[in-house]
Amino acid sequence: MILSTKTTRPDPDPDEPQEELTISSATLRKLWPTEQTLFRDHLLRLDKDSRRMRFAHGVSETFIEDYTERMNEMGSIVFGYFVDGEIRAAAELRKLSDHWGEEAEAAFSVERAYQDQGIGSALMGRVIRAARNRGVRLLFMSCLAENAKMQAIAKKHEAVLRFEYGEVIGEILPDGPDYFSLLAEAVDDRVGYMMAVLDLQARLVKAA
Ligand SMILES: CC(C)(COP(=O)(O)OP(=O)(O)OC[C@H]1O[C@@H](n2cnc3c(N)ncnc32)[C@H](O)[C@@H]1OP(=O)(O)O)[C@@H](O)C(=O)NCCC(=O)NCCS
Repeated sequence: MILSTKTTRPDPDPDEPQEELTISSATLRKLWPTEQTLFRDHLLRLDKDSRRMRFAHGVSETFIEDYTERMNEMGSIVFGYFVDGEIRAAAELRKLSDHWGEEAEAAFSVERAYQDQGIGSALMGRVIRAARNRGVRLLFMSCLAENAKMQAIAKKHEAVLRFEYGEVIGEILPDGPDYFSLLAEAVDDRVGYMMAVLDLQARLVKAA
């Protein structure tokens, strides 16, 4: 899928293999466990308001450092939108018990300069497909009541929105997995793997 900035675009079809997004040299792929520091740096770069929207309250740098250190322990799936080796946007799919089961939760973050370009919507497509392929029947997304953008994205994906104490809880019922959804994720993972190797090479060259 190719996204152009600020143009009319079709919504991403999560069942189609999604070619790597290209805005300059951008790619959208799952993170490797070793890339948690890139995820941390992305969350630390969020402006004050975006950080508050992401965590539903203001959080400190130490909180973000602890949070990303636990990323691998929690077994979350994290998608990153990479531009020149840095993560500029991310989406997490968290299971709500020890195993992937009926319920999971999603959270999104896009750095200010990259917002309003369709990246959050593309991330939502990947998250829903990953949830679907893991048998998740109910996907939660919570955001502050003032977060109109997140609610717009959730509504596009047929979320039912509930208002609770200043927050909005979105509930999405993913379809069950099928051959096409599994194949599409496998194809994206293969491409993502190659892009991750290239990113790693570029980082090693930069560090040398
Ligand atoms: C919320 C967030 C993830 C959205 O990502 P994004 O890449 O900016 O969003 P997109 O460009 O994909 O889509 C935004 C949609 O909101 C719509 N929108 C923008 N401003 C809006 C407003 N004030 N009211 C209603 N809809 C609005 C856009 O039109 C677009 O919908 P469209 O694609 O149908 O035109 C991003 O802004 C972000 O990271 N914010 C800070 C953290 C956060 O809020 N996280 C969510 C809680 S987990």
